[in-house]
Amino acid sequence: MLNLSDLIDNNRRWAAGVERREPGFFDRLSRQQAPRYLWIGCADSRVPANEIVGLLPGELFVHRNVANLVVHSDLNCLSVLQYAVEVLRVEHVIVCGHYGCGGVEAAWKRTPFGLIDNWLRHVQDIVERNRTLFTRTMTDAQSADRLCELNVLEQASNVCRTTIVQDAWRRGQPLAVHGWIYRLRNGLIRDLGLNVSRENTLDAERERALRALMAAEMPRETPPASAAIEGGKR
Ligand code: CO
Repeated sequence: MLNLSDLIDNNRRWAAGVERREPGFFDRLSRQQAPRYLWIGCADSRVPANEIVGLLPGELFVHRNVANLVVHSDLNCLSVLQYAVEVLRVEHVIVCGHYGCGGVEAAWKRTPFGLIDNWLRHVQDIVERNRTLFTRTMTDAQSADRLCELNVLEQASNVCRTTIVQDAWRRGQPLAVHGWIYRLRNGLIRDLGLNVSRENTLDAERERALRALMAAEMPRETPPASAAIEGGKR
């Protein structure tokens, strides 16, 4: 196991390597940041934002919390969003959840972990509001997968509903909000098809994304062996 001094050593090697490949990289970066994307993702250590989309320091503005939630009164998340949209003027906000999310699973199974249960209550609320999307034929794993997907659509919708994004659209600022989900088992991102770039299109986009999600999941009702394996992959 690495101890802390190993981390500092790693850092020295990393910085030297970057500088060797691209002399002056840090000096240039220290003068300004101009990322085009804001990433809102889970705090999970297995979903490192920059790495999985192949972006360098300076290219991605990042906010992460447990279960990638966008809560309307969370000043931390709202401040990141406001700075990204109004100061950095990012063009895309990506809400990226992931299958196998411990926070979402705890919410689904109502496993008590303490204070965090109150945070995850927001995810349980999604279940209450979408009872019909969880059928009796679904396994626990399939239900948790579906909740991970619905959670992305919900949080991306919350981004669209903020005064920050609404105001940007009214000003005519180019800004699109997207919902993605990452699979730990294969390292691949799936676009859930929610792409909102204008005021008043959220409901239609959300409906479309939901329908696509349900259509894609239909084979799960009578899964052949291969689909059953895929369904269990997270
Ligand atoms: Co997670």
